[in-house]
Amino acid sequence: MKKLNLRTIRQMKQKKIQVLTCYDYQTACLLDQLDLDMILVGDSLGNVMLGYETTVEVSLDEMTVFAKAVRRGAPNKFLIVDLPFGTYSTINQGIHSATKIFQATQAEAVKLEGAFPYQLKLIERLTQTGIPVMGHIGLTPQSVHQLGGYYTHGKDQTDAERLIQEAKSLEAAGAFAIVLEMVDEKVATEITKMLKIPTIGIGAGQETDGQVLVINDLLKMGPKTPPKFCTPIVDLYQIKKNYLEKYLKDQRI
Ligand code: KIV
Repeated sequence: MKKLNLRTIRQMKQKKIQVLTCYDYQTACLLDQLDLDMILVGDSLGNVMLGYETTVEVSLDEMTVFAKAVRRGAPNKFLIVDLPFGTYSTINQGIHSATKIFQATQAEAVKLEGAFPYQLKLIERLTQTGIPVMGHIGLTPQSVHQLGGYYTHGKDQTDAERLIQEAKSLEAAGAFAIVLEMVDEKVATEITKMLKIPTIGIGAGQETDGQVLVINDLLKMGPKTPPKFCTPIVDLYQIKKNYLEKYLKDQRI
């Protein structure tokens, strides 16, 4: 399994790219041995690792600590790290934050949410300085308060057209791939057909070039029910609970 790079990723359009999130050293060691294309240290770590209500609370320092642990465990995977909320509110701040975390973690790319004009400019500047950027549109959890909740995007024509335009602009700005989160399946399919760069879906149907899932949802590692688009393949939370209950009971005797 050869580590991907931007040249090989460009050739992976329609190749069912598989991406999983990861936040810790031991899981990274495991993923490093598997036939997985990319690892994302998502700011979803705020929810699943730190117990925050939203990703808005996550800081650049927190992202850095977790991403460095993942890098140590998975040196052979293409690693993407999220820029958290409030660290790219201006172009200069975004360049500073991205450079800092990119250097500290030795990730291969950063991801940022949104496609407003200043964010497109930021992507242009980052790619010019040698920092590959993955885009992210549709549901952008860092804007949950502005959006008014978590729901599917692109259901009406105006919203669909907006998303299509955003996707085109992100490609033109230099993004090497785009996450489509909770995007209406038809719109995600249209965007996927339209772009040269790969689309990576989450809750956006099966027609995107790849899929990304939060590993803690896929393995049901926590007490909360995962989002409806992710059917867990195992209930690790319950399994661990059963083993620990038995261990503790046996020790009491
Ligand atoms: O933070 C994250 O895990 C993400 C994925 C859901 C795409 O952005």
